[in-house]
Amino acid sequence: MNFKTIEWRGDHIRILDQRRLPLQVRYLVCENASSVARAIKSMAIRGAPAIGVAAAMGIAIGAKKIRIDHPERFKQEMEKIFQQMAQTRPTAVNLFWAIERMKRVFEESSRDIKRAKVRLEEEALKIYKEDLEINRTIGEVGKRLIQDGSGILTHCNAGALATAGYGTALSLIYAAWEEGKKFHVYVDETRPMLQGARLTAWELSQAHIPLTVITDNMAGWLMKEGKIDLILVGADRIARNGDTANKIGTYSLAVLARYHRIPFYVIAPTSTIDWKLPRGETIPIEKRGGEEVTHIGSKRVAPEGVEVYNPAFDITPNQLIQAIVTEKGILYRPFQESLKRIQTS
Ligand code: MRU
Repeated sequence: MNFKTIEWRGDHIRILDQRRLPLQVRYLVCENASSVARAIKSMAIRGAPAIGVAAAMGIAIGAKKIRIDHPERFKQEMEKIFQQMAQTRPTAVNLFWAIERMKRVFEESSRDIKRAKVRLEEEALKIYKEDLEINRTIGEVGKRLIQDGSGILTHCNAGALATAGYGTALSLIYAAWEEGKKFHVYVDETRPMLQGARLTAWELSQAHIPLTVITDNMAGWLMKEGKIDLILVGADRIARNGDTANKIGTYSLAVLARYHRIPFYVIAPTSTIDWKLPRGETIPIEKRGGEEVTHIGSKRVAPEGVEVYNPAFDITPNQLIQAIVTEKGILYRPFQESLKRIQTS
């Protein structure tokens, strides 16, 4: 990859501003926890694993910048930072998973402020490195699902930009490409925020992988035309039975895939599994502002004053999922059992 989604720079965090891609490659310099929280909320950085990494780094930089030497007051400031991060985006469980890891490390070391700051930085960097390694492994594990000549459909962006690097769904594509397989990727534009057209198309072009951008409503017809052999999507939260929350539009693709008998794969690290949730129906779905729907970029396309509904994610029932690819292997139905096996492995 010739870009870094997020980078720890000691006294600040550098974040590739995804709101400006592909037209501008600009970086945000975040020097405190609030600016990282803002970057997550405004989707300058987005994608479940990347949100987790950013939150961890945001907590570590926040701790580093606190100028208090009284342990109890330091703890109160840290509580505020943990809360601020937790209020950024509700659906991706990687956010809460990363916050929990950081909290545990903090609780073990909070009596010694200097040590707590060091340990939080170490843990944030560990989360970053683990994500990179896990994504590489996911690519290796899953690349056999892609054949020479495959037509692949993707939705949203589950690539290097959505993670510390390589991506989840796109890591299979990168790994199969590196192996010399030839295939074609159809990229759903992914309204309303256009993560497909803007981000997936950008990063696949950087890697010189052949792609075609389509609008979301074309996907069914491409399936009918026989152009799609498999569908690869990421996940924001997977329940214990395999029900999966992902970018709005994923559910429709899964329904279409079943009708056309096309395998529909979810690809995610195990940090995206919410072990506390038996089923998907209680996954919190983020609702975002109406202007994302009434406008494309800064241009209004709907009349003033119309009512808008803008759920950012939907939930695909496990019955529509062919397999879930994780760093611990390719899991098949019943997911209740296959997921349970990897929880303890
Ligand atoms: O709203 P976003 O852009 O954060 O949504 C991203 C997705 O839905 C991705 O598919 C998901 O987070 C997986 S990223 C590896």
